[in-house]
Amino acid sequence: MRRLLIAGNWKMNASMDTSSALLSELVNADIRACDIAVFPPFPYLALAADCLRASTVRFGAQDCSDQASGAYTGEVSAEMLRDVGASMVIVGHSERRQRHAETDELILEKVQRVLAADMTAIVCVGETLSQRQAGVAEQTVTQQLSLLLSQLSLVQWQRVVIAYEPVWAIGTGETASPEQAQAIHGHIRQLLAQVAAPLAEQTRILYGGSVKSASAAELFAQPDIDGALVGGASLDAAEFLAICQS
Ligand code: PGA
Repeated sequence: MRRLLIAGNWKMNASMDTSSALLSELVNADIRACDIAVFPPFPYLALAADCLRASTVRFGAQDCSDQASGAYTGEVSAEMLRDVGASMVIVGHSERRQRHAETDELILEKVQRVLAADMTAIVCVGETLSQRQAGVAEQTVTQQLSLLLSQLSLVQWQRVVIAYEPVWAIGTGETASPEQAQAIHGHIRQLLAQVAAPLAEQTRILYGGSVKSASAAELFAQPDIDGALVGGASLDAAEFLAICQS
């Protein structure tokens, strides 16, 4: 049985004060029905480590370097994230694929770094609006996952979570319908099954893209949706907790 994971991606939002307030609300809510993780911006990770010390809420980073260490100005390594207490890293978010031209090859390198540092990688995939309109949503996601499927071992996959985030649904207020999301999630599950049956059974596939408390329960009722990667709604404690409670 796959346990639901609700992950809050704060993106480049919040301040020291608002981070601290949001983290305390999550700690006080003490929800145990699902796994919860938050992804604050880098400068607030140490604060998250402090606030979440006695909590079941986990925290992680929104990106990491594909390099281990050295002369890479402005970059942060997976080892450093582990050092500060992070247990997860989001890799290949569409905002990074688009703004920083991240390729599937680079994303594989980053995932390898995250896994080598004993953390979990949440790998994001998803089609753009024009790809959906052209009828190549499944093909796009297949392509984005193909290197990972061919290069990672079954043991490594135990620490990989996939997040399906249609680009047209991110930050737009337009959620994929439960049927649209389930169709792609089912397709991803089949790709995993082609590698090995246990992979399909174990791997969590999150949906992301304008998830709100009003749409969460219906999404989570789909057989292949194992939680959500929540952006905007994760900045509002009440809304994020309501999603967790769904
Ligand atoms: P959103 O973002 O919930 O604001 O659409 C989701 C994401 O980009 O992870």
